[in-house]
Amino acid sequence: QGPETVSPTGQPTGAAPARVAQSGAYLTTAQGARLYDTDHSLKAGERGPVLIQDHHLREKITHFDHERIPERVVHARGAAAHGVFQGYGTAAEVSKAAFLGKDVETPVFVRFSTVLGSRGSADTVRDTRGFATKFYTEEGTFDLVGNNIPVFFIQDAIKFPDIIHAGKPHPDREIPQAQSAHDTFWDFVSLHTEATHHTLWNMSDRGIPRSYRMMEGFGIHTFRLVNAAGDSALVKFHWKPKLGVHSLAWEEAQLIAGTDPDFHRRDLHDAIEAGAYPQWELGIQVFPDTPEQTFEGIDLLDPTKIVPEELSPVQPIGLMTLTANTTNYFAETEQVAFHPGHLVPGIDVTDDPLLAGRLFSYLDTQISRLGGPNFGQIPINRAHAPVNDMLRDGMHQSAVHTGVAPYRPNSLDGGCPFLAGADTAAFVETPVPLPETHKVREAPASFSDHFSQPRLFWLSMSPPEREHVVAAYTFELNKCRQRTVQERTLEVLANIDPGLCAAVAEGLGLPAPAAGVPLAAAEPSPALSQLGETWPTD
Ligand code: HEM
Repeated sequence: QGPETVSPTGQPTGAAPARVAQSGAYLTTAQGARLYDTDHSLKAGERGPVLIQDHHLREKITHFDHERIPERVVHARGAAAHGVFQGYGTAAEVSKAAFLGKDVETPVFVRFSTVLGSRGSADTVRDTRGFATKFYTEEGTFDLVGNNIPVFFIQDAIKFPDIIHAGKPHPDREIPQAQSAHDTFWDFVSLHTEATHHTLWNMSDRGIPRSYRMMEGFGIHTFRLVNAAGDSALVKFHWKPKLGVHSLAWEEAQLIAGTDPDFHRRDLHDAIEAGAYPQWELGIQVFPDTPEQTFEGIDLLDPTKIVPEELSPVQPIGLMTLTANTTNYFAETEQVAFHPGHLVPGIDVTDDPLLAGRLFSYLDTQISRLGGPNFGQIPINRAHAPVNDMLRDGMHQSAVHTGVAPYRPNSLDGGCPFLAGADTAAFVETPVPLPETHKVREAPASFSDHFSQPRLFWLSMSPPEREHVVAAYTFELNKCRQRTVQERTLEVLANIDPGLCAAVAEGLGLPAPAAGVPLAAAEPSPALSQLGETWPTD
């Protein structure tokens, strides 16, 4: 999958695969010298000392010593597959992106992951799941780097190191592995109450999916789409699994984590191998691109908020089918590098402050994870569109660039004039007007309602789903060693629903708090309050 051959400038040539490794009938050194033995070191006599002049020995062991690269700082454990995306053509009114056109087929690579566990952790733990898709479009690579939960813990990327430090194992004992059952996690989410919504999704059945094939995916942030006429709209992306959304029961998840820690990975692989290709429909919720960037009173730049589908239905725009397993885990699943800033004409970002930090973070981390700035040349990361950049040299450069003038315009190399502003197929940032403003280090008031959406989510659940949520909070909080953390979390739960709070308090053997945490909140959206009234509250 993917272009296996490239021209010296990194462009796919379409020729037969040029396999870097493992060609020829004989075992050789890395330099191609044929070997007659790989099981014995060169020694001075059969029982004598090993000789340092044994190049094969030193090369073999040295390479082995450097086989590992750092695992991802988050989303370290993943499983991936190749497939194809087929546009329905229904997005043309809002986006000019060519790959969304009717029946246009685009190769994709999808990596699913857990967030907190190490590369060797179990699949069925309670956690958010990553759902990252690379679309190798003819206009360049578009990455939709989403999760299976439609909201995020924090509203500003400056807190991302903090929430991850709180969620990863305690620094003193390096436990627990991949579970939210510990003091620092609950300390963080009870002190940073914008995390309440995401945490409730984690404690719901969505935190323990049955299969990657049965998970929704969400772009979470609001994106800006632009059509051929230059008109823009704000959208949220949704992946809907054709198999429906299914979860494990907590007891099943725990048993499977012991008996088959690779359960999700195996399930994905086996389904594809058996020809039961998993499918997701891509859909968008579309909102007018008004200067306020709100919809029904919901701030569209706040990644801790959803827009309920009752207020804005998801409109299908294409179908993704995963059709092929990876053939080399390291080369594909481990070396793939997604980036929310990999955009194509017709898709642009908004000023969501969480997204802004992500636009910086991914390339930065990949420079260290993948050993320098040239990881775009690794086969899985190569664009399928022609690449003609001015990036040169650096660690692990494998392209042999020609010409003398990697700058534009130039009068030496000829060709490829730089047509500033004249290339209609170029990616052009949407000219969004900026309000007259001043520098601030604070969140807008519209980000301060942390509880009405979690409450709405709680109200939407059936009685068994609510029982699962109570059991999840009780199990996880029971692992806390600090009573103050448990008590503060109960106050947060009181703000979601007094019944939820009382049930969890009972499970912890603590009194339910007299009141919740003080509300900083502005009035919740009237549309949301109305919606909540239509659901049962018992
Ligand atoms: C990795 C999703 C927020 C930093 C990932 C991956 C996903 C993801 C799916 C795994 C990609 C893969 O499979 O290779 C999200 C979502 C977010 C979010 C949906 C919020 C809506 C953030 C923020 C930051 C961040 C705010 C930092 C400021 C990272 C880093 C990686 C990562 C450093 C590792 C990337 C790599 O090593 O290739 N994220 N993330 N993420 N994310 Fe995020």
